Amino acid sequence: FAYPMPVNEPVLNYGPGSPEKATLKKTLAELKKKEADIPMYIGGRAVRTGNRIAITPPHEKDHVLGYFHEGDAKHVQQAIDAALKARASWAETSWESRAAIFLKAADLIATKYRSYMNGTTMLGQSKNAYQAEIDAACEIIDFLRFNVHFLSEIYKQQPISSPGMHNRMEWRPLEGFVLAITPFNFTAIGGNLPTAPAMCGNTVVWKPAHTQIYSAQMFMRILQEAGLPDGVINLIYVDGPTLGDVCFSHRDFAGVHFTGSTGVFNTMWATIGANIAQYRTYPRIVGETGGKDFVLVHRSADPDVVATALARGAFEFQGQKCSAASRAYLPSNIAEIVKRKLVDQVEQMKMGSVEDFSNFINAVIDERSYDKIKKYIDRARKDRKAKILVGGNCDKRKGYFVEPTVIETTDPQYVTMCEEIFGPVLTIYTYDANNFEKALNLVDNTSPYALTGSIIARDRDAIELATSRLRNAAGNFYINDKPTGAVVGQQPFGGARASGTNDKAGSMLNLYRWLSARTIKETY
Ligand code: SER
Repeated sequence: FAYPMPVNEPVLNYGPGSPEKATLKKTLAELKKKEADIPMYIGGRAVRTGNRIAITPPHEKDHVLGYFHEGDAKHVQQAIDAALKARASWAETSWESRAAIFLKAADLIATKYRSYMNGTTMLGQSKNAYQAEIDAACEIIDFLRFNVHFLSEIYKQQPISSPGMHNRMEWRPLEGFVLAITPFNFTAIGGNLPTAPAMCGNTVVWKPAHTQIYSAQMFMRILQEAGLPDGVINLIYVDGPTLGDVCFSHRDFAGVHFTGSTGVFNTMWATIGANIAQYRTYPRIVGETGGKDFVLVHRSADPDVVATALARGAFEFQGQKCSAASRAYLPSNIAEIVKRKLVDQVEQMKMGSVEDFSNFINAVIDERSYDKIKKYIDRARKDRKAKILVGGNCDKRKGYFVEPTVIETTDPQYVTMCEEIFGPVLTIYTYDANNFEKALNLVDNTSPYALTGSIIARDRDAIELATSRLRNAAGNFYINDKPTGAVVGQQPFGGARASGTNDKAGSMLNLYRWLSARTIKETY
């Protein structure tokens, strides 16, 4: 079964008077009106525990969208049991039948549930319509279709045979269950992390962040409608330590597909290491973690290109992309003009609810996040080494609003140049335009992360130099563009160093991790 390279799902534009805007508005009103009661899904069954937790939009914290039913250790165990029970028949299901389910889910999102995937993402995660469309509609659809294609390419790979013998490779799933842990910032990561291993024949326990549940359960229901058999993916809502206690001490734990913080990933890895003798097989550990993504500007750069790359790279979705630009290095010859143009663009960004489509900036995800971001801004306001060029105001009366904020510093090691903030805060440092070498060193050595980064220049030699010298500073490297917005099939995504295992999401590299090949030699 060969599935040719798909084309990326076209992005709808939600312009005034467009039919997609009218449909989405209707769905938003419908979602806001009803109070959802959201169960976990274990072994295909809707499980309600009675421990109901409210879901509220980050931009309108007094409005209850519904309640999810939180589980405990017992439900983690039930989810593992359901996954292990489903495993035998799922692993034996033909690849064509497995693929058909995920392709059907992609089609259902494209044609029937697009506004629901977007609507739940907009309201639950405070993501505007344009950012939701590229995430909860297009990127999920792309993950599903491209992964089917990549897997069909993997299955074709076979060793050579010679007279008297036949060799073949059996692309088995892992032995046990796979755990998927997903964050709030991309609904599409929730679309990819459980389905990539499942496509390969594994069965999965999926725990989304509490702040992602509203869109995650929508996707789960679509998978069920597409025909996903009971127990192949089990969606549970529990806290991290409870999940870890049960999963990482289980003999049949076969792997984890994770996106989240570096700290949590490190703790998880250490726990898995400490328990290693208990497992039947060495678990696969695949993770994408933090970032402190850079934009390095050369003296030859076009100031307009720089200002736009910074404004969009730093502030789309309130800077809550792991790929968001958060430290910029400006050359002294154009620093002033770039700052002016950047401040101009930022001052024009409207902030408010996702329901008004003209708002570019919405709320940050929750109070904890708001408090953390605000602390950095307040500190910069007082520090001698820092100056706030634009933004800096925060207001949590109605929702968790933080203005897009640009900090300028005279210290390239200033705290906001080094630490991940995960919010709408960009820090810039001006270097001597005649000392590009110094800037290259700073980019490479200021942060432990290596997820994304950009070089902006018109001078080809500078581009070549940065591309080779910053080889290990970013897993996704952009030339004359913002460091965000990787598209499945076009820019496989992931970073190394403290940013993760770099098993590129939406590529064969990722899918190989969910397969454990058997070589079979037959002599005749
Ligand atoms: N794919 C996203 C981006 O490139 C990050 O997860 O912005």
